[in-house]
Amino acid sequence: MEIDVFTLFPDAFDWFERQRHVANAIAHGHRLGYVNYRDHTPLGAGQVDDTPFGGGAGMVLRVDVVEAALRERYGVDPIELPATRRVIALTPGGRLLDDALVDELAAEDALTLLSGRYEGFDQRVLDHFTSEEVSIGRYVLAGGELAAMVVCDAVLRKLPGALGHEHSALEESFSKALEGAPEYPHYTRPSDFRGWTVPEVLLSGHHGRIRDWRVAQSRERAARAARAADPPPG
Ligand code: 6GU
Repeated sequence: MEIDVFTLFPDAFDWFERQRHVANAIAHGHRLGYVNYRDHTPLGAGQVDDTPFGGGAGMVLRVDVVEAALRERYGVDPIELPATRRVIALTPGGRLLDDALVDELAAEDALTLLSGRYEGFDQRVLDHFTSEEVSIGRYVLAGGELAAMVVCDAVLRKLPGALGHEHSALEESFSKALEGAPEYPHYTRPSDFRGWTVPEVLLSGHHGRIRDWRVAQSRERAARAARAADPPPG
């Protein structure tokens, strides 16, 4: 997989690239690339944003700047791009990222992630150059960089070889193997800490019973989460 991140702050990703699963994915031939809008602006003095027509607070990332960056990276008129690859704008109001969307994205050969800053993108970027908008939650971040890292983190760890154990991404919270439910609880040594003991079944060595217990716990957590999200009246 090849992921291009368009951003005004490529340095923000230095820490992210050093994370084990990201480094593993790159060692396996996956690619993470960065394009700084500022390096491609056709305007003077590195200008990339402008004040909104109609007034209001903040600055808006210009459509001509985004066009120039996409055109230089891909060598085509960017209106052609959405038909050939997923070009995702990171916006607070976009499609909410969840495990199913992560699976969809992890199945792609190539992704383009556009981070915005300031008040966001000129609407014409979203209308003409992108295939979709993705959000990591219903709150507003100062910029799309953290959201881009969240998307990359969740996608890259699904790729073969990114995690130490091939197993770990299969049976985890919200996965199909757990019926979309949150993961079961984990325990490690010591088996007794301040009188807080580990469930007997996990120490039993009985793999069938352990599996049944974990599935039951996972379902119980799902039911609890559903009640919390939608409490019964009264
Ligand atoms: Cl993708 N961007 C920004 N700026 N804020 C967000 C977001 C994205 N997702 C949630 N909040």
